[in-house]
Amino acid sequence: MKRKAKPVQIEYLPLKEIQAPLLLWYRQNARELPWRSDPSPYRVWVSEIMLQQTRVEAVKPYFARFMEELPTVEALSRAQDDKLLKLWEGLGYYSRVRNLRRAAQVIMSDCGGRIPDSPEELKKLPGIGSYTAGAIASIAYGIPAPAVDGNVLRVVSRVLCCYENIDLPPVRRAVEEALQNVMPKESPGDYNQALMELGATVCLPNGTPKCAECPLRTLCRAKSGNVISELPVRSEKKKRRIEDLTVFVFIRETSPGKYQTALRRRPGTGLLAGLWEFPHTGGTLNEEEAAALPGQWGIKPLQLLEKRTAKHIFTHIEWHMTGYLWKVEADENTPFTWADGDALSSVYAVPNAFCAFSAAVRGYLSPEEPLPE
Ligand code: ADE
Repeated sequence: MKRKAKPVQIEYLPLKEIQAPLLLWYRQNARELPWRSDPSPYRVWVSEIMLQQTRVEAVKPYFARFMEELPTVEALSRAQDDKLLKLWEGLGYYSRVRNLRRAAQVIMSDCGGRIPDSPEELKKLPGIGSYTAGAIASIAYGIPAPAVDGNVLRVVSRVLCCYENIDLPPVRRAVEEALQNVMPKESPGDYNQALMELGATVCLPNGTPKCAECPLRTLCRAKSGNVISELPVRSEKKKRRIEDLTVFVFIRETSPGKYQTALRRRPGTGLLAGLWEFPHTGGTLNEEEAAALPGQWGIKPLQLLEKRTAKHIFTHIEWHMTGYLWKVEADENTPFTWADGDALSSVYAVPNAFCAFSAAVRGYLSPEEPLPE
């Protein structure tokens, strides 16, 4: 017989005491962020999706470009794949941006173009879970709904000295319920952002919290019990699978001093779906073994310009890459798309996994002097 999971109880009364010092601290210390100065539902939504898995500083330029190119839900709902991926290039987790567009289409077709304000309606949209729904409802519409991300879970675990595992969904739901009971009705957006901000800038993970700067240091039970480093409790991380790859960076001369590199599009589903990449094959090949492969694509290596290794870490996989940058001679009918330096920068979205190679190839596509023969 399947045993029913024990319901998770989170004490919420001690959380009442943190409200005043937390809000005061936030009003004095909040970072100036572009989506805070004008928290329209659209800007809050896009920023919150970008901020999932990505640091604030990294998001800023992406957010500015996105708002300039796609300033409204309607513009987003009509955006073409290539444009969307290019705007997201380097942010990773590309399903986020496809879901953004799908949600924008639903908002246009079913909600009269208005982003819903209730967490329940927001959660029905693709890519919007409990956290994002709470963030949009509270920050953009002033509705008291909790927005519990990893930062908030860490702060709450420590303040309450709670040893529940924050990676378990029932624990997250219990924290949401606890916060729902204590959040202020008049400034729920500030309250949620204050908790996030404290987690992001002061109540840091991995043994580096800045307790001396924390507005909650006298109320924090983990601090007074001297157990900050034990909290929060998390599940053990699964080991990532390592994949070795050999990457081919082909560079052909199309007219004197003009160069292009070969790209191919990834399949429409799965990891990095629809993005552009340098051709590659499984395993780590030495130069001789690698040089034997391009013939199948109508490509003849002429000169090895550089051999370069790079590593990229995804959530569940690590790519260990060995890349060969070759000057080549290429048939007209290779299976690849050839891009010059401008097209590589402005047309094709190449994921960060290949950034060591795209950065290196840029130098060869626009050389100060012709490449060696
Ligand atoms: N992380 C994600 N969203 C945030 C926000 N609105 N403020 C601070 N940190 C965040």
